Amino acid sequence: MIGKILFMTEMTITSALTEELDAGVREAIVEVCVAAHGEEDFRNLFTYVVAGGLHFMAYRGEEVVSHALVTTRWLQAELQGVGGAGMNSRAKGRKHVKTSLETSSRALPGDFVKVGKQGLLRTAYVDAVATLPAYQGQGYGSALLRRLAREAAGEWEIACLETERASFYERLGWEVWRGPLAGRSDGGLVPTPEQTGIMILRLPRTPALDLDGILTIECQPARIW
Ligand SMILES: CC(C)(COP(=O)(O)OP(=O)(O)OC[C@H]1O[C@@H](n2cnc3c(N)ncnc32)[C@H](O)[C@@H]1OP(=O)(O)O)[C@@H](O)C(=O)NCCC(=O)NCCS
Repeated sequence: MIGKILFMTEMTITSALTEELDAGVREAIVEVCVAAHGEEDFRNLFTYVVAGGLHFMAYRGEEVVSHALVTTRWLQAELQGVGGAGMNSRAKGRKHVKTSLETSSRALPGDFVKVGKQGLLRTAYVDAVATLPAYQGQGYGSALLRRLAREAAGEWEIACLETERASFYERLGWEVWRGPLAGRSDGGLVPTPEQTGIMILRLPRTPALDLDGILTIECQPARIW
């Protein structure tokens, strides 16, 4: 009896690519996200992410109770001590750098690479982090994100996410980006001065970063961060 109870409530964590998820698991993931965030748009999750996402699921027994999704995006950051061409000095302070971005608004991403002397970072971008309300505060989300960090270390150079709950992630080693933020588009940099809550997680292959420097990400059709 005790063994059965333990089995029923055991936490297991799995990961799978989007295309490997069957209909039942997809439905469960959507329900977890909608219930946790109260946003019906999560019903379109598998329209937005058709294939190639890496999903992490925490199960309580056979029930999916927590979820997170990783897709590959491309951050570009200033490396510590190699800002070059005055980039570091210009990058101190959001207001000052916003001016810098505005004056270089025609700059292409390639120009930023040249000025900053660094390349793009293969980024594990984390979305749709959610635990069913009934099971929040029981360690599912933390366990899921620790597993995510371990798996991400093999394939990605850094992890990133946007959140309004920084303290939860800080406890797990994530750091709030302090410097200015921008999107990279074909037309140049798009400053996002109102954006808050962008966090990064250093992975084994993450270079030394200046958290006060500029951080950019490729613009997507429906969003920047
Ligand atoms: C944020 C969220 C994903 C966390 O998932 P979770 O499963 O509740 O996470 P955990 O249980 O591991 O941790 C949550 C808190 O409970 C605490 N906790 C974990 N296990 C605990 C336990 N056994 N006893 C008491 N507290 C515990 C953690 O320390 C953590 O505290 P903190 O937020 O102050 O750091 C979940 O609360 C959620 O879905 N929220 C709504 C949607 C949302 O905000 N998503 C994230 C935005 S990016």
